[in-house]
Amino acid sequence: MGRVALVTGGSRGIGAAISKALKDAGYTVAANYAGNDEAAKAFTAETGIKTFKWSVADYDACAEGIKAVEADLGPVDVLVNNAGITRDAMFHKMTPQQWKEVIDTNLTGLFNMSHGVWNGMRERKFGRIVNISSINGQKGQAGQANYSAAKAGDLGFTRALAQEGARAGITVNAICPGYIGTEMVRAIDEKVLKERILPLIPVGRLGEPEEIARAVVFLSADDAGFITGSTISANGGQYFL
Ligand code: CAA
Repeated sequence: MGRVALVTGGSRGIGAAISKALKDAGYTVAANYAGNDEAAKAFTAETGIKTFKWSVADYDACAEGIKAVEADLGPVDVLVNNAGITRDAMFHKMTPQQWKEVIDTNLTGLFNMSHGVWNGMRERKFGRIVNISSINGQKGQAGQANYSAAKAGDLGFTRALAQEGARAGITVNAICPGYIGTEMVRAIDEKVLKERILPLIPVGRLGEPEEIARAVVFLSADDAGFITGSTISANGGQYFL
């Protein structure tokens, strides 16, 4: 049987493209999602990929959810921590709630999910964890003190965990997408997107979700074992790090 991959936020946006690409590469895929039942249903109908509902911000729900996935499909070999939210506001208007929601999902979510698969990966001496960070975790972004902090935290988490997993055959890597044409980016005010963001992207367009998914497939492969603790930037030349 092929390897099992679990993708958080895996039924929409970049996550949906990742789930599909991993399936096409031969993985048995489980797509987690938090809220949108209709999108998840449609996604399963379209792709045949099973969806599982829980919030990555909830530690106990992650433990239960991972148990359910493993009972159904087998031990998780590949975890893609993709689920993320935005609550953009200039800092002087940002509420503690907006800060907390983003940190809980985009940073603590990685702890919650990785903790749930870590011991199994250690025992089996194989694992792949791919964390979807962001260009805005690398460079910072006005209006996103919460998101930039969480996504920068994801990179520190990646590098620390890579060192712990190395001897157990577990790699931990990050991908930093730039501005990709998903609902999240299209939710930005059109004027802001057109006048302040697009002109900064040298390739002159938003990225496609599939352009992130191909990097995930690369890092998830069995023969990618020497690549760990690394960050792949996929941002159309907007920022180099
Ligand atoms: N740098 C410095 N100052 C900026 C700025 C910037 N990049 N952008 C806006 N400002 C200033 C404005 O000039 C304005 O100043 P004045 O009041 O002196 O005129 C002030 O900040 C307020 O700007 P807005 O009128 O835009 O404020 P708003 O409250 O209406 O909106 C906002 C604030 C919601 C944060 C809006 O600016 C916005 O959506 N910005 C884009 C943020 C962004 O890039 N989000 C990425 C989402 S996609 C994503 O996160 C995926 C990923 O990983 C890439």
